Amino acid sequence: MAEQRRKSVLITGCSEGGTGNALAKEYCGHGFHVFATARRIEAMQNLALLNGITLIQLDVTSIPSVSSVLQTVSEILERENMSLNILVNNAGVSSVIPTVDMPLQASHNIIQTNLLGPMNMVHYFMPLLLRAASSPDGNVCIVNTGSVAGLLPLVGASYNASKAALKMWSDSLRLELEPLNIRVLHLAMGFIDTSMWGRARESLPAGSRYASIENLLVDHRLSFRQNSMSTSQFAQRVVSVSSKTNPPTTLYIGKGAFRYWVISWLLPQWLRDYEISRSLGLWGLGAALRKA
Ligand SMILES: NC(=O)c1ccc[n+]([C@@H]2O[C@H](COP(=O)([O-])OP(=O)(O)OC[C@H]3O[C@@H](n4cnc5c(N)ncnc54)[C@H](OP(=O)(O)O)[C@@H]3O)[C@@H](O)[C@H]2O)c1
Repeated sequence: MAEQRRKSVLITGCSEGGTGNALAKEYCGHGFHVFATARRIEAMQNLALLNGITLIQLDVTSIPSVSSVLQTVSEILERENMSLNILVNNAGVSSVIPTVDMPLQASHNIIQTNLLGPMNMVHYFMPLLLRAASSPDGNVCIVNTGSVAGLLPLVGASYNASKAALKMWSDSLRLELEPLNIRVLHLAMGFIDTSMWGRARESLPAGSRYASIENLLVDHRLSFRQNSMSTSQFAQRVVSVSSKTNPPTTLYIGKGAFRYWVISWLLPQWLRDYEISRSLGLWGLGAALRKA
């Protein structure tokens, strides 16, 4: 009988205060060896003392960085007789600045990180995942961190677009990889209390046409954080679901996730647009600008 290898998981975007960091601790507690990655090693120092976690510097938008991490992880798996069973595409960036005020490079960075980043990771790490999937106890899963902003235009246009595209990519990938014994779990995330919301006070540039509603925009974002799910609750649920042999295709998780899903199905587009425009102050802004 083939010798059983120790299971491992690779997680992107593990800076302290975020969901990736909480997932690293939780998978570690469940006996996985964890490859915790982030752009800055020092942002993951709280994980350094835990046994069974390897910290690696990784920028998911850089092919040389992804390919160098593949090399490092492959060597460790070989040396320690481990397999890569779970890849969590968690790294992400967000911005709520309206499109006309946002530098083009910032929009591109959102797509590069949130959509092309997972594509880079899956492309490069596929040989390791396929190898784990071909073993008799192979239980292999790719986890993509989507958002309810992929269902309804809640955050910022580029962010919403990146998460909507990620959802379709997850669904297509799931069908393609099913015959190869690799599962794909898409997380339709509502609001989780992470450091991302600490940056919710992004300022509009001077002269912005949206200046008169800036406070409303900030309040709207900050309201997402109130009573949001803790990172540890989030991590417990995701680790439990992603370790199943037959997980759901999409996990709705976090504050408001299920409610926004229902709204996206039930309300007609005009009513959804009205509600979102009203809460962001866009409706009133249009009327004020027409009068001016
Ligand atoms: N929190 C929520 O309510 C919520 C809701 C829906 C979806 N999500 C999604 O959940 C994921 C995690 O978000 P979070 O709330 O934990 O935010 P976070 O605390 O800001 O964590 C994001 C992580 O991604 C990393 N990152 C950014 N660009 C990267 C790159 N090019 N390469 C590698 N890592 C990169 C960040 O590194 P640095 O520390 O270097 O910036 C950080 O470690 C994201 O995909 C986000 O879109 C979150």
